[in-house]
Amino acid sequence: MEAVKNISLTINKGEIFGIIGHSGAGKSTLLRCVNLLERPTSGTVKVGEVELTRLSSTQLQKERRRIGMIFQHFNLLSMATVRDNIAFPLELAKLPRTAVKQRVDELLKLVGLEQHADKYPAQLSGGQKQRVGIARALANNPDVLLCDEATSALDPQTTNAILSLLMDINQKLGITILLITHEMHVIRAICDRVAVIDGGEIVEMGDVLDVFLKPQHSITKDFVSQIADSFDPRELIDTRSGRLIKINYVGEITYEPLLFNAVKSTSVQFTILQGTVSRMKNTPYGQLVIEFIGDDGEIDRVLDELRAKGLEVGDLK
Ligand SMILES: Nc1ncnc2c1ncn2[C@@H]1O[C@H](COP(=O)(O)OP(=O)(O)O)[C@@H](O)[C@H]1O
Ligand SMILES: [Mg+2]
Repeated sequence: MEAVKNISLTINKGEIFGIIGHSGAGKSTLLRCVNLLERPTSGTVKVGEVELTRLSSTQLQKERRRIGMIFQHFNLLSMATVRDNIAFPLELAKLPRTAVKQRVDELLKLVGLEQHADKYPAQLSGGQKQRVGIARALANNPDVLLCDEATSALDPQTTNAILSLLMDINQKLGITILLITHEMHVIRAICDRVAVIDGGEIVEMGDVLDVFLKPQHSITKDFVSQIADSFDPRELIDTRSGRLIKINYVGEITYEPLLFNAVKSTSVQFTILQGTVSRMKNTPYGQLVIEFIGDDGEIDRVLDELRAKGLEVGDLK
């Protein structure tokens, strides 16, 4: 059986790229192919300028220091303190003792664990354990960070804190992040681009905004509905007398009084039947279902004005 197949994927330097899929879709296998913990039977893996699939095992071991990895269940050494867990990859890289200490101190500060350096993993919360995992993964200054369901074992609040830390690391250190998840809100919170994987194949890929606002594949629609309103406004079509219009918008216009301005010199009235105004990473967006009541021609002119402002407007069907 093939766990992943026909994968052709390019991650840009410095971006946060998410791969989303259901359990068993092949996410972990795909991620492990990036550092060759899993060696694909055919094809190539290139990180930066280096084709990993051509390297000897000694060369590969060295190149792997450029690729950090964190895990759902943290994979910490339970018999070692926080400090020693973080020092471990540095000792493997044969860094001198004083340099190890200095680097560990930097990393403890970066992830906010200065007060916990001498504790053991069992004395830490889940979020703190993942901070240790992140510090350890960053120890050798990698170019790439792989995250395998890094927040799936955490509560929502801790998840958000860890996601902010990852975004911070991406922005401050310029590290490229490739993460896998089965949760759409993780993608929405920090990813620039996303690929949807199902049955070991990528079924959809694009900018998070595009994929989120216009999902094409049924699997993608499932994931998007995880964070959408479960109420389907189309149920209202037969019960309302006005025109039901769907409106999408992205960017700073989200905060402008566009609807009010469009109707104010007309006799058209409107009611919001459903609405989401939120953010994707740093981009605000809105999705509304509006009932417009009034003369049809006048409503058309209102809709044209909204389109002219850059909103996507269409009848709800
Ligand atoms: N080394 C492997 N060789 C073949 N099949 C595998 C291997 N590892 C995992 N699988 C199978 O491949 C599928 C994808 O697994 P996995 O990548 O762990 O999925 P996910 O992380 O999306 O839950 C599963 O059906 C799993 O049983
Ligand atoms: Mg997995």
